[in-house]
Amino acid sequence: MSELLKVSGLHAGYGRAEVLTGLDLKLRQGEVVTVIGPNGAGKSTTLNALMGVLPARGQILFDGEDVNGLGLEERVMKGLALVPEKRELFTTMSVEDNLVLGGFRPMRLGIKDWRDELERVYALFPRLKERRAQLAGTLSGGERQMLAVGRALMARPKLLMLDEPSLGLAPLIVKEVFRIVARLREAGVSILLIEQNARAALEVADYGYVLETGEIALQGPAAELAKDPRVIETYLGAARKAH
Ligand SMILES: Nc1ncnc2c1ncn2[C@@H]1O[C@H](COP(=O)(O)OP(=O)(O)OP(=O)(O)O)[C@@H](O)[C@H]1O
Ligand SMILES: [Mg+2]
Repeated sequence: MSELLKVSGLHAGYGRAEVLTGLDLKLRQGEVVTVIGPNGAGKSTTLNALMGVLPARGQILFDGEDVNGLGLEERVMKGLALVPEKRELFTTMSVEDNLVLGGFRPMRLGIKDWRDELERVYALFPRLKERRAQLAGTLSGGERQMLAVGRALMARPKLLMLDEPSLGLAPLIVKEVFRIVARLREAGVSILLIEQNARAALEVADYGYVLETGEIALQGPAAELAKDPRVIETYLGAARKAH
């Protein structure tokens, strides 16, 4: 498998407060890579820096090209997609219009059948099809999450970055979210997954990183990380207690 993303020495922060202090991270084509870690560790900061929402120093090799320095829209066109923590839907527009807007990348690339993607997204999320005319702002939390992922998929991204897709959802919907991640993985979509739900994330991922205060504290194949006593103690043990 070839490398799709290779991040080296990434620095990012807010004003003079540096959050990421030289982050290294890799993701190969077709892999699901997860980044877990406590609140405030810099997980969202990492995704925002990769997407170009936040300025960063360091190298972001994406598909063989350093995209650091490119703007958000250019990165979208290169095939990066982010579903941010705050889903940022167009609340006064319908479900379907939100999805169609997500399709501007293939449309601009001149891919004639870009609208076919809509049916693929509806096949993945039948609930969205049922509610295609409903205003996005009136969807339930789980439906919004589906729409945010669906809209990102409309861009036919090379890399889908998900910031805590299970956040605030009921256990049954959380299961559904992880089922969808697994299904996308089977379909060959490369995914960078940020999660608080370490147990489920490590189950679905190929490789994992533990981010603590802006630095990678641990990393390894997801199945091995899930057995690491330090991970169990801090991330899996705590999750068990919470139930
Ligand atoms: N816009 C901002 N301005 C100033 N500080 C910020 C801003 N956004 C985030 N931070 C700070 O940067 C640090 C990392 O935040 P970040 O959102 O990346 O954490 P996270 O790992 O995603 O946490 P969570 O699990 O709570 O989402 C935190 O200390 C946070 O307070
Ligand atoms: Mg976050």
